[in-house]
Amino acid sequence: MRFDRLEFKHLSQMAAIEREAFEMPWTESMFIPEVEDPSAYYVVGVRGEEVICYGGFHKVLDEAHITNIAVKSTERGKGIGKFLMSELIARAKMADITRMTLEVRDNNIPAIKLYENFGFKVEGVRKKYYDNKYDALIMWLTI
Ligand SMILES: CC(C)(COP(=O)(O)OP(=O)(O)OC[C@H]1O[C@@H](n2cnc3c(N)ncnc32)[C@H](O)[C@@H]1OP(=O)(O)O)[C@@H](O)C(=O)NCCC(=O)NCCS
Repeated sequence: MRFDRLEFKHLSQMAAIEREAFEMPWTESMFIPEVEDPSAYYVVGVRGEEVICYGGFHKVLDEAHITNIAVKSTERGKGIGKFLMSELIARAKMADITRMTLEVRDNNIPAIKLYENFGFKVEGVRKKYYDNKYDALIMWLTI
């Protein structure tokens, strides 16, 4: 697998991965502005023409606000999420970012474990943010 820069040709496969991963998935059209936004940093893990994973953040001053992280369901549990997160952190460092943040549903244990392994810490909670049911944990990492 190699990491490519986000291009329009990736979007339909990314939207398919979103649909299998989330109850409120990003659609293809929601990703379109990200392709040419100079403050958006995305990496897309591809094998041949197949999209395996992707992740991205928006640079706001010296902070990275992570928007998406997902691995195709058939490829999970093989270390790809870890590889993707390392790549995002490396890109953030290159962009002179000092802090990274994301939101995660409080029952998304695989994602929370992944982030904790990289040193992310819960610094805030948005009560009943998802579906008026699940809390959103706001996690931060100082890099
Ligand atoms: C979260 C996600 C990106 C992890 O990707 P992955 O490729 O399966 O993760 P990896 O195989 O690299 O595992 C990395 C770490 O994540 C954690 N993890 C992954 N799967 C896990 C599981 N089923 N249960 C508990 N922890 C898990 C572990 O800490 C693991 O490290 P370890 O193997 O050293 O214990 C993936 O599950 C996914 O795409 N989920 C759907 C989308 C999503 O929820 N994105 C996050 C939104 S905030």
